Amino acid sequence: MSDLSLRPADPVVGRAIPHESAGLHVTGAALYTDDLTVRTHGILHAHPVQAPHAHAKVTRLHTAPALDVPGVVRVLTADDVPGVNDGGVKGDEPLFPSEVMLFGQAVCWVLGETLEAARLGSLAVEVDYEPLPAIITVREAIERDSFQGGAPRLERGDVDNALAGAPHVFSGELDLAGQEHFYLETQCAVAHVDEAGQVFVQSSTQHPSETQEIVAHVLGLSSHAVTVQCLRMGGGFGGKEMQPHGYAAVAALGASLTGRPVRLRLNRSQDLTLTGKRHGFHAQWRAGFDGEGRLLALDATLTSDGGWSLDLSEPVLARALCHVDNAYWIPNVRVNGRIALTHKTSQTAFRGFGGPQGMLVIEDVIGRCAPRLGIDPAVLRRRNFYASGQETPYGQPVRHAERAVACWEQVLTTGDVAARTAQIAAHNASHPHTRRALAITPVKFGISFNFTAFNQAGALVHVYKDGSVLVNHGGTEMGQGLHTKMLQVAATSLGVPFESVRLAPTRTDKVPNTSATAASSGADLNGAAVKNACEQVVERLRVVASARLGVPPDELRFGGGFVRGPGEGQTLAWADLVAEAYVQRVQLWAAGFYRTEGLHWDSAAMAGSPFKYFSYGAAAAEVEVDGFTGAYRLLRVDIVHDVGDSLSPLIDIGQVEGGFVQGAGWLTLEDLRWDESSGPTRGRLVTASASTYKLPSLSEMPEVFNVALLERAHEDGVVYGSKAVGEPPLMLAISVREALRQAASAFGPPGTVVDLASPATPEAVFWAVRQARGGAQPPHIVPVLEGGVGVVPEQPDADAQPLQPRSEQVAQDEQVAQVAQSSGRGG
Ligand code: MTE
Ligand code: MOS
Repeated sequence: MSDLSLRPADPVVGRAIPHESAGLHVTGAALYTDDLTVRTHGILHAHPVQAPHAHAKVTRLHTAPALDVPGVVRVLTADDVPGVNDGGVKGDEPLFPSEVMLFGQAVCWVLGETLEAARLGSLAVEVDYEPLPAIITVREAIERDSFQGGAPRLERGDVDNALAGAPHVFSGELDLAGQEHFYLETQCAVAHVDEAGQVFVQSSTQHPSETQEIVAHVLGLSSHAVTVQCLRMGGGFGGKEMQPHGYAAVAALGASLTGRPVRLRLNRSQDLTLTGKRHGFHAQWRAGFDGEGRLLALDATLTSDGGWSLDLSEPVLARALCHVDNAYWIPNVRVNGRIALTHKTSQTAFRGFGGPQGMLVIEDVIGRCAPRLGIDPAVLRRRNFYASGQETPYGQPVRHAERAVACWEQVLTTGDVAARTAQIAAHNASHPHTRRALAITPVKFGISFNFTAFNQAGALVHVYKDGSVLVNHGGTEMGQGLHTKMLQVAATSLGVPFESVRLAPTRTDKVPNTSATAASSGADLNGAAVKNACEQVVERLRVVASARLGVPPDELRFGGGFVRGPGEGQTLAWADLVAEAYVQRVQLWAAGFYRTEGLHWDSAAMAGSPFKYFSYGAAAAEVEVDGFTGAYRLLRVDIVHDVGDSLSPLIDIGQVEGGFVQGAGWLTLEDLRWDESSGPTRGRLVTASASTYKLPSLSEMPEVFNVALLERAHEDGVVYGSKAVGEPPLMLAISVREALRQAASAFGPPGTVVDLASPATPEAVFWAVRQARGGAQPPHIVPVLEGGVGVVPEQPDADAQPLQPRSEQVAQDEQVAQVAQSSGRGG
């Protein structure tokens, strides 16, 4: 076992401790960035001028009238930018644009003494636009050849040959939806400039170092002139990995021009209309199976809807490609990826970061092909699992493949699946108007940033003379419990009680050059860095204690606030030891560092071993569908998930529950709609509020919800034997979608195939039930074709895809699965 993963006796890690801010959260005392506003004297408020077009040239910008509005202090435009007018890292996100790229884009910002003054000022700004044609859906983008960024290809084996020789070949398409983060705290930044020109920005950001870099380049400063702090976030979910930078830069620009503090907080409708979301994808696929249902080949083209700028679309697509295999061995694979450029919000990181989209493709393939193969979907899934020794399509050995099996089998047992399957059959036989079904799906999710350089972290640990400990680390807290885990790691490594350790807010002047708290790797990376810093201090204290107790240094044990030798009475209190070390002029603080070893990734070849390890899980979901309306209930969910040896079981179970419910929201309820008409509001987000965008709430929770962490799951080479947990459980919710598919198909005779839309809203389920009963397919669903003599076109021929609904007859006639036309997913 490695030193990193070894736990001492009676560690503080592994204890079921509530979130360190739980009390503050529930009493409302927890401080978020915008709470600083009322505590800051003389603060100005920023309000955007939002464009009423999805795509347009700005032909005239006249700001003077705004300055006549009482309380307006200044209008910020491109002319004010001393550095680079760009809010991103790809150079394609002008902060003050001359060409509007999405409906509602901010063309300039008004600063006012009050928010109301700034808002009235924004209404007084005169802007003239020359509207340009706008591309709204991913299918329109494909049709018009509107792409951005790289088009990676993941390939292994000989797909064409394998498909040519496969006993069963199917082809199909899937449109899968995006998702709004809907973090409770919207994007927010508060900026100050001090008398020496030092800029201090408090930002709700998952990536303070990158926010710092963007603020610096917009202001034309070096990084050392900008400090970014993140107190905590009221949720990030990936939506604050890249998106906060521009808002922080606008606030900092305002502060540097006026000399006064500036606050920029998006209200909910601004946040919904301006900020990026999960990428929706369009997928075309062909899959070959052998006579027993083993996957022989997968040929697919994944087109993500990137929105107006690149943002994180390329790495999101890479992760999607790296997860089309999910937990399944597919000997021959060819997946082409590309990113559509559409005139919408710039789609970005969202819990799972493309992994969910990639996995949904293969699970949809299996769910749709199982009845055609005459194999129970659970049997088909299990039959295709990776075995130890096999490699992913990008060439990484699948270590601990047996853990996927262990999770799966434990769910079958604890979920009482065999008995319930019989009960479900009995229910379906005796209830003409409802159908129940149970589906079980696996998760295998790679942990680490694909981009190797991001897999590093730092920490700063201070031990004060009285023995109390203050920890800084590079990760941010967004509710996921990272700080709680870091307190537990520090207490364990120093051998002190949990209460002796305190955490300071994340700041770029404490730990520099940090990576985003993302890819679920926050605890792995920062935990190892915190442990490294603590161990440096302990090593120095060991020398002091050795002299004092007359015990060789390596025989001393630190734990519970004491240092003990092997003999009677060889005990020293931590605080006394620290006090003595100070007098002896021993350094009582240390900077820690960690980098994940053994990773390599060639992004051009899409090959390597980008992940430190895989996280595994399995979920069994049971649903009941109403045959008249498509309405459904989620009756019971059983989950077994692998978090290694948990650092903090309460936190981890909360992450599994929260991730699962967020995934269920994405796949069943949350339905983003943009105005796809040719009217004047084309491109407007029509689901721009909580009244039109349905989020999961208490009433959508499974009626029975059992979450277990896989036992005996020690992960060697990771901090205290743990595994990341933040994102992987989200994909367990695919079980709900597959259960809905099975329940809908149960309205037809055995073997009925159902092509379920995503999200599987009651409306979509209604269509699926109708299909099962032999009714017409909904117009936007392209059925699976059998025979698969066609090929998946790499760059679909624009002429072949007219922009009108195609008839079912055409769909049946075509042997080629190609991009079919529709106005999107919706009904
Ligand atoms: N949990 C809560 N409560 N709030 C969040 O914003 N973000 C998720 C996940 N869990 C999130 C969350 C995402 S997208 C990631 S990448 C991880 O937490 C990041 O934190 P970690 O690396 O510390 O797990
Ligand atoms: Mo999470 S999507 O990696 O911030």
